[in-house]
Amino acid sequence: MARITVNVDGIRFEEEVEPRLLLVHLLRDRLGKTGTPIGCDTSNCGACTVLLDGKSAKSCAVLAVQADGCDIATVEGLAAGGRRHPVQTAFHEEHALQCGYCTPGMIMAAIDLLRTDPDPSDEAIREGLEGNLCRCTGYQNIVRAVRRAASIDGPVNGEQAAAREVPA
Ligand code: FES
Ligand code: FES
Repeated sequence: MARITVNVDGIRFEEEVEPRLLLVHLLRDRLGKTGTPIGCDTSNCGACTVLLDGKSAKSCAVLAVQADGCDIATVEGLAAGGRRHPVQTAFHEEHALQCGYCTPGMIMAAIDLLRTDPDPSDEAIREGLEGNLCRCTGYQNIVRAVRRAASIDGPVNGEQAAAREVPA
């Protein structure tokens, strides 16, 4: 067993973990962060994407011990003060989801994309989200949502999301 410390959505956790435990299982099974879904468990679908020190990462492809000392942002920590994160608002307003299974990962990947490219072209959006699969939408509204989020003033990037205080 290994002792790790992680900061998840602004809250510090100390956990004893097996070296083989995946980060997604730490988040879901130990910390109750079930808003981060598992779609494939083989690092193909992107449903489990979170921000690891501000950068998007598939949490089924990271060992919990590798996240020791890291700041982790999940979709559950995005809304603050009863207000959705701008990327969540853009997904809502552009109807960028149907079943919603891919949506948490899609939103986290979009936040990272906008951090590195605040005004992406449609092509750059499609390229930036190519690791995130959606079986429902055909992607068009997802691309629209990211474009819309890029036009919203406010904290759209991951560092700000990760740094945001979580209400007690
Ligand atoms: S569950 Fe992690 S990439 Fe599919
Ligand atoms: S909305 Fe169903 S998988 Fe994307």
